[in-house]
Amino acid sequence: METMAVSGMKVAPQDLAAFCIEAMRISGLNEEDARLTAEVLVTTDTLGTFTHGTRQLRGLLNNIRTGRLSATAHEEIAAEGPAWAIVDAHYAMPPAVSYRLMELAMQKAKACGIGFVGVKHSSHFGAAGFYANLAGQHDMIGLAMCNVDPCMTVPGGRSKIMGTNPIAYAAPAGTERPVFLDIATSAVAATKIFAARALGKQIPKGWLVDDEGLPTTDPGQYPARGAQLPMAGHKGYGLAVLVEILSAVLTGAAIMSGVKSWVLDDPEPTDEGHAFIAIDIGQMMPLDEFKARMDGMIREIHAAPLARGADRIYLPGEIEWEKRDRALTEGIALPADVIASLRGLAEDVGLDPEEFNLKL
Ligand SMILES: NC(=O)c1ccc[n+]([C@@H]2O[C@H](COP(=O)([O-])OP(=O)(O)OC[C@H]3O[C@@H](n4cnc5c(N)ncnc54)[C@H](O)[C@@H]3O)[C@@H](O)[C@H]2O)c1
Repeated sequence: METMAVSGMKVAPQDLAAFCIEAMRISGLNEEDARLTAEVLVTTDTLGTFTHGTRQLRGLLNNIRTGRLSATAHEEIAAEGPAWAIVDAHYAMPPAVSYRLMELAMQKAKACGIGFVGVKHSSHFGAAGFYANLAGQHDMIGLAMCNVDPCMTVPGGRSKIMGTNPIAYAAPAGTERPVFLDIATSAVAATKIFAARALGKQIPKGWLVDDEGLPTTDPGQYPARGAQLPMAGHKGYGLAVLVEILSAVLTGAAIMSGVKSWVLDDPEPTDEGHAFIAIDIGQMMPLDEFKARMDGMIREIHAAPLARGADRIYLPGEIEWEKRDRALTEGIALPADVIASLRGLAEDVGLDPEEFNLKL
C-alpha cells in the first residue's frame, strides 16, 4: 500500500485503518467484518464527520465485551422478495452488516430497478452517509437511515419521544461531485449541546426544551432532563417518523421507547433498525443523460446569485468531499476527542498506536 507523509497530529487513513482492524481482530472480529467496519469509520473521518468516525470504535468494541454486540454473529435474511429483504442482524458488528446490506439493496436494484433492505436487531451503524454514498459510487441513488433511542420531543410534546433518526441520500453526477446529504432529524447533534455545557455556554433557542416542554437556552440539565427538538419543527418531526416507519415499524425492530441506548451500560438489547434503498438509475434513464442532468442542476445552483457577504454556494456533500480531498493528500487532522477515544481504545485492547505510525 502507498504510504503517505503526514505532519503534526495528522494521520494517514491507511495507518488509522490498520490500527482499527487490529483492535477489532484482538476483540474477536473476523477479517471481513474488521475491514468493512474500518472502511466505514475511517472514510467517515476523512469526510470530516468526526462525531461518527473512528471515535465510535471504542464504544462498539465495549458493546462486544459486554455482550450487547456479538463478534461472531452474522446477519440472516428473515424474508425476501426479488426487490426487497428483511434481515435479522443478530447483533453482529453494525457497520459491517450495514455495508453488506446496502450491497444487497444494490443487487436487488440491479435485478428489479429498485431494492429495499430493512434490518432488525441491530445497533449503532455510525454515519448514514457512508452507506448512501456506497450506492452513489455504483451509479445508483442511495438512501440510508436508522432509528435511535428517544432523546427528542415532537411539536406539542415535552418528553423524549423519538430518536435523532438520521437519514442520508446520495446521487452520482457526471463531471461534478456526487451530491449527498447526511443529517440527524434533530435540530443539532447532541455533541453540540454537550460541548456548550462543558464550556458553560448558553445554546440558541430551538435546540432543547425543558421539563415543561418550553424552549430553553440552558444545556446544563440535558440529557438527564429536557429533550432535544426536531430540525425545522414539524418538518424534522415528520421525517423522523418516516425513518421510524421504514427502519423499525416495517422491519420488526424496536419502535421508539423500545430502543435502548447503545452507549449506556444497559444489559437490554438496543434493537435499532436500519433501512437501505438503492435505485438503479440506468434502468430508468440512460446513465449519461442522468449524469448530464445532475451536472446541469448542480451548475444552476452554483451559479445562483449570492447573499450579501456569502462567497459561495455549496451542494449537499460538497463540504465533505473537499475535506476528504485534503485528508487523502495531507492526512486526517483528528480532533482532540477522537484522539482521546483512540488512546482509550489502544489501552482497552493492549495496542501501541506508534506501531501503526499513529502519534496519538
Ligand atoms: N447512527 C446514529 O445513531 C446517528 C444519529 C444521529 C446522527 N448521526 C450522524 O451524525 C452525523 C451528523 O449529523 P448532523 O445532523 O449533525 O449533520 P449536519 O447538521 O452537520 O449536516 C451535514 C449535512 O449537511 C450538508 N451541509 C452542511 N452545510 C451545508 C451548506 N452550507 N450547504 C449545503 N449543504 C450543507 C453537508 O454536506 C452534510 O450532508 C451524520 O453523519 C448522521 O448520519 C448518526
